[in-house]
Amino acid sequence: MKLAYEDEIRRLSYSEAPKLITKEIPGPKAKEILDKIYKLESITILAPYVIPFVWNEARGATVMDPDGNVFIDMTAAIAVNAVGHNHPEVVETIKSQAEKLMHTADMPHPKRAELLEKLSQIAPCGMKNNVRTAFAMSGSDAAEMCLKFARWYTGRAEIITFHGGYHGITTGALTLTTNPTYKRGIPPLVPGIHFAPYAYCYRCAFGQKGYPDCDLQCARYVEDLITKPGLGLIDKPAAVIMEPLQGEGGYVVPPGEFVKWVWKVCGENNVVFIDDEVQSGFCRTGKWFTVEHWGVTPDILNLGKALGGDFPVAAVVGLKKIMDNLPRASQPVTFAGNALGCAVALKNIELMERYKLDERAARLGEYFMGLLKELEAESKIVGEVRGLGLMIGIEIVKDKTTKQPMNLENMVWLVHRMRDKGLLAMICGRWGQVFRFMPPLIITKEMLDKAFEVFRESLRELEKRI
Ligand SMILES: Cc1ncc(COP(=O)(O)O)c(C=O)c1O
Repeated sequence: MKLAYEDEIRRLSYSEAPKLITKEIPGPKAKEILDKIYKLESITILAPYVIPFVWNEARGATVMDPDGNVFIDMTAAIAVNAVGHNHPEVVETIKSQAEKLMHTADMPHPKRAELLEKLSQIAPCGMKNNVRTAFAMSGSDAAEMCLKFARWYTGRAEIITFHGGYHGITTGALTLTTNPTYKRGIPPLVPGIHFAPYAYCYRCAFGQKGYPDCDLQCARYVEDLITKPGLGLIDKPAAVIMEPLQGEGGYVVPPGEFVKWVWKVCGENNVVFIDDEVQSGFCRTGKWFTVEHWGVTPDILNLGKALGGDFPVAAVVGLKKIMDNLPRASQPVTFAGNALGCAVALKNIELMERYKLDERAARLGEYFMGLLKELEAESKIVGEVRGLGLMIGIEIVKDKTTKQPMNLENMVWLVHRMRDKGLLAMICGRWGQVFRFMPPLIITKEMLDKAFEVFRESLRELEKRI
């Protein structure tokens, strides 16, 4: 069956990907650029130190480096470019909006009003047409806003968050983040943050063998934190902030019942349930928002990444009952709600709707997971393949019985190997032991097949190497 828009979607990417023309990657022109970056940019950036690679042009689900090598992008530059890189209509939108209006600080303009309306319409579950939105520029500053809003609304201070969670790099958001690399040497951070185990069934914090036999100890623990004395909280918390599918922590898919349970306890105790979908939102997991898989209506929804795609836009969408009770005129942000950003976000959403990227991610994700699951069965080092839609994690272990995580050096070697075969990929997870595939959602099945071949081949090389 020929799918609507498939020809148009196919033309978005460089058809020849992957195509390698230099003897080594990075090639000579890329090396020159990297040299300057290594010399002059703050060493606090991450990507060039994990995977030396230079982007020069990008189209759809493909990237060209300055030496003319073409790669399949299985990263979407960290789950951002849902509609692909440089979509021609996004480029056109940027040009025409740039000629008209770009910056207004937080003063009104038509695209702002239009985007507010659109976000209200597409918001998940019971949020639909029942929200107000605050704009931000990155997932991190939006996460800060989520915390403030919950604190203002409840008049309480403490926050519950999860092991393996990532909510950003600014001080408040960083406090919620558990990766020590980002935090070491910085504390004191924000007080009043409490951590609970996430429903990471492959490595259950309670030593359980699996869901549902575990009786959801992790959900019960959060319930206890909220409702029982003597577990470290002084009062009831203001909020629980949760990724409904954990991103940086290892592409961990929790049982839906876990999310639902925590959400329900929050509701019963007037605790704000903050759903951080910066990484998992906007069709990535096969639904517009991941909570729609679990039938949960968040009180506050944190959005970023794919909302803006090629342009930085983030937003905090909250139920009116909360947002109507925040202090008026208390959060002006110079660049948030930028006219260019709003126009691009609207175009992104229009393209997601036109291409039905939620259904496309579900369909392609199921297909790709099927291939990867075969690999899980045959490989000695693939511990678990998991995911929803095109947010897929592959946990690599030294030994499937002990589940000892693969060491970082080998994971980085694998990323380099794949790059050298024309595939851009990233890792995540608490030990860096998880491969993640989160390509632009306009990637084709044929490209996924090629990506799979490269991954399988590289994995076999690693198996021989260790
Ligand atoms: C779930 C989640 N929240 C927040 C953030 C922070 O977003 P940003 O990097 O745009 O500040 C990220 C980034 O990866 C994320 O995955």
